[in-house]
Amino acid sequence: MKADLIVGIQWGDEGKGKIVDLLAQKYDVVARYQGGHNAGHTIVVDGKTHALHLIPSGILNPKAVNIIGNGVVVSPEALIKEMKQFDHLLGRLFLSESAHMILTFHTLIDQAKEILRGEKAIGTTGRGIGPAYSEKIARAGFRLGELRNVPALTERILEYFIQNKAIFDALEITLPSREALTAELTGFAQELVPFLANTTQMAWKMMDEDKKILLEGAQGTMLDIDHGTYPYVTSSSTISAGACTGLGINPKDIGKVTGIVKAYCTRVGNGPFPTEDHGEIGERLRAQGREFGTTTGRPRRCGWFDAIACRYASRLNGCDDLSIMKLDVLDGFDEIKVCVAYEVNGEIIEHMPLDLEAATPVYKTFAGWDKTEGVRRFEDLPATAQTYLKAIEELTQTKIGMISTSPDRNDTILL
Ligand code: IMP
Repeated sequence: MKADLIVGIQWGDEGKGKIVDLLAQKYDVVARYQGGHNAGHTIVVDGKTHALHLIPSGILNPKAVNIIGNGVVVSPEALIKEMKQFDHLLGRLFLSESAHMILTFHTLIDQAKEILRGEKAIGTTGRGIGPAYSEKIARAGFRLGELRNVPALTERILEYFIQNKAIFDALEITLPSREALTAELTGFAQELVPFLANTTQMAWKMMDEDKKILLEGAQGTMLDIDHGTYPYVTSSSTISAGACTGLGINPKDIGKVTGIVKAYCTRVGNGPFPTEDHGEIGERLRAQGREFGTTTGRPRRCGWFDAIACRYASRLNGCDDLSIMKLDVLDGFDEIKVCVAYEVNGEIIEHMPLDLEAATPVYKTFAGWDKTEGVRRFEDLPATAQTYLKAIEELTQTKIGMISTSPDRNDTILL
C-alpha cells in the first residue's frame, strides 16, 4: 500500500500537529523523514500534555509503530529526554541506523555562526541542524549506527576535532576530553542502540504487507533548502520529495499528499515574507492565533494569506488537497486580504521569483465574518467565509479537504 504524506505549505508551524495527531489514530506506521528537534508541537491527550520534537505523533496511538528515518538529524540528548515522557517504547519506536547525529559541537557551531552573521543572521533555532546536515553532505558526519561501537566512534570524533581545530579555535568552542566524550557516547548508546533498525527495509516490508503508513513532514515548503527562500531556510528537503531520500522509498510509494496551510501566514526567523504586517493586523493575528514558537517561544511574524506562495508549494509537493488551519483566527476582521500576485521591479508576476525580498504583494480584499470558531460543517460557515475558502481553492488550484476551526480535535470540517 502506498504511504500518505503530510507536508507544511508555508514557513512551518501550520498546525501539522493537530492533523497528524488526528490521522495518526488511523495509521499503522508514522514516519519522520527530515528535520530534527527544530520542529515541535504539543499534543494534549486525556489531560496530559506531550511535547514532541523528534518522535512521530503516532506515539500517542498505542497500536502505531513510529519511525525516525535516515533523513532526520537526531540529537541523542534531545531524543532521550523526549523518550522519557513515554513508557514501553521498545517495539513502537525505531531509529534509522543511518540517521546522522547532532552532537554538542554542532549546536555550538550553529550558535556561534549565527552571532558572526550579525544582521544577516538566519534566525535558526540554534539546535545544530545546519552544521549536522552540512557535515553529512561533506561526508564528515556521525551516524546513529556508530553508537554500536563507542570506542571506534570516539576515535573518529577526536580525529574530526583535530582536523577542524582551526575552526573550533576561531569560534572559541571548548571541546570535550576523550573521557567526557566516551562517557557521553556510552550513555547515548545504552539508551538508543536497542531502538536502531534498518528502517528502509522496515518501510518496504510494511508497505508490502499493506500497512497504512503516514509520512510526517516537519517545517514547511518555503523553508526547503532548494525551493525555499534561500539562504533563509532550514537545511533539509522539507517538500514531499524529501520523504523518498529521507526514508528510502521511491516516488511511486507515495500516495495521497495533503498540504497543511494556515488561513493566514506566519514565519519565525529572518528572511523574506511579502505579506508580513508590521502593524495592528499583524499584532492581532499574533494575539488571536497565539503565534509564539513551541520550540523557542519566539513571537512569530504574521500577515495575510499568500496564494502565490501556496500555489507554488502545492505544485512542488503534488498536493492532492489542502487542510486549512486556524480559520477561526480570522474571526472578527472587517475585511481579509489575500496576496494574488507580486510586483517585482514594476512588473506584475504570478509566480515565485528568485528574490522574494524584491516582491511587493498585490492584494484582493474579501469581506470578513463574525464567527467560525467551533463550526463543524461547511454549510454552517458564514457565507463570506465560504467565499474566502472557495477563492483559496481557485487561486491555489488545489481543493480543500479539511478545515480546522479551533485547536480541539473535533472542531474540524471534513469535505
Ligand atoms: P534551523 O532549522 O534551526 O537551522 O533554522 C532555520 C530557519 O528555519 C529559521 O528561520 C527557523 O526559525 C526556521 N525553522 C526551523 N524549524 C522550524 C519549525 O519547526 N517551524 C518554523 N520555523 C522553523
